[in-house]
Amino acid sequence: MTSMDDSLEGIVGSYDPAKGLADAETIPRVWYVDPRVYELETRSVFGGTWQFAARLDQLQRPGDYVTTELAGEPIVLTRSSSGIHAFFNVCRHHAAIVMTEPAGSCSVMRCPYHGWTYGLDGKLKAAPDMGKARGMEKAGIGLPQVRTDVWGNFVFVNLDPEAGPLREDLGGLPKELEALGADGLKFFERRTYEFKCNWKVYVDNYMDGGYHIPILHKSLNAVIDYPGYTIENKGRYVVQKCPLKISKARPETSRIRRGKDAYYYWLYPNFMINWYEGVMDTNLVLPVGHERTVVVFDFYFDDVSPAAAERNKASVDLGEKIQHEDQDISISVQKGLQSRSYRAGRLSERREGGEQLFHKLLHADLLKALKDGKATDSNAPARGRHRQRIAG
Ligand code: FES
Ligand SMILES: [Fe+2]
Repeated sequence: MTSMDDSLEGIVGSYDPAKGLADAETIPRVWYVDPRVYELETRSVFGGTWQFAARLDQLQRPGDYVTTELAGEPIVLTRSSSGIHAFFNVCRHHAAIVMTEPAGSCSVMRCPYHGWTYGLDGKLKAAPDMGKARGMEKAGIGLPQVRTDVWGNFVFVNLDPEAGPLREDLGGLPKELEALGADGLKFFERRTYEFKCNWKVYVDNYMDGGYHIPILHKSLNAVIDYPGYTIENKGRYVVQKCPLKISKARPETSRIRRGKDAYYYWLYPNFMINWYEGVMDTNLVLPVGHERTVVVFDFYFDDVSPAAAERNKASVDLGEKIQHEDQDISISVQKGLQSRSYRAGRLSERREGGEQLFHKLLHADLLKALKDGKATDSNAPARGRHRQRIAG
C-alpha cells in the first residue's frame, strides 16, 4: 500500500510496525485528522480494551453509582450488596438514559421517562402499566451487563465480551506500583482539561521520553535530571523514570515535591499514572471527537487531612502550568498535522521508544479490526481479542 491509497486499509497499511526504532517513523498524519480512523479506533480500541471507568472510592457503599460514556456507549457502574456491576445505561423500554447524574447514591435505578425501575444488580423490578404486554417476563429483562474488574482504586470496564482478563493486560504494572507504596495514597481532587487535538497527540506528547521538557516546560526542567531520564517498554505498558534534583534553593518546589525519582506509567491505550513520593495523579485520555480530547486528572496524596490541604492544592496547581503549556503545543501540533506538507515524522532512539510501542500496539489493533470486519460484516462492531503482543 502506498500513502496515495486513501482507503481505510491503505491508511492503516501505510504505517510500518516492523522497523527498528532507529529507522522508524511515527504513524502518518492522516491517522490524526481523518474521522474514519477515529471511528475505527472508537469501536476497536476504546470498545475493545479495558478502560478505567470509576474510582473504587466512588463505589464504597451499596447504592453508590457512577455514570460514564465509553466508545459512545452510556455506562452505569453500581455497588450492590453483592459487589460492583457495570451496565449499559439504556432503558429496555424506549431506550432513555436511565441514570443521568455523573455519580450519586440510590436504592434503585429509575428511568426518568416512564418510570421503569431496575435494581442495583440491573434486574428489572417494576414496569408500570405493562401488565398486558404478551410474553414480557420481568425476570428476563434487565440492563445489559458490561464486564468490569477492579485493580486497586481503579474500576475498569470492557465492552468486548470476549476480552481477556484485566490482569493479563496489566502485566507487571500492579506489582510495580505496589512496590512504590501507591496503595497507601488517598484520592484528593479531580480536575478535567480539554485539549483541542486528536487523543493521540496527547499520548505522543506524554510518551516522548521527556524530550520536550527542557524546551517547553522550563520550570519542570529545573527540577529534573534530564540526561538521567529512562524509558522501559513492558509489553502493554511503559515506565518512564526521571531522577529529581529538588534543592533547598527552590523552596516552593521542595515543599511539595519529594523523593529521588518520578515515575510516569502509561497503560495502553489511554491511562497514565504519575508517581512522586507521597503524591500520585492519574490521567484518563478521553477522545470526544477526532480533534477534541478531554483528560481527566485524579490527584492522590499520602495525607489528605485538612492540615495537608494547602500543600496538596499547591501540588495540584504546580501541574496546572504544565498542562497549559501542553494544551498550547497540542493545538499547534494538530494544526500542523492538517498540513499537506507533512506525512510522518522520525523518532529519537534515545527518547521516543515508548511512543513507538504506542504506535505499534495501535496499528495492531486497527489492523485486527479491519481484518475482523472484512471476515464478518464490515458494519458490525469488531469482536474478538486483539491479542497480538509486541515485544518492547
Ligand atoms: S424509556 Fe425508560 S421507562 Fe420508558
Ligand atoms: Fe508536557
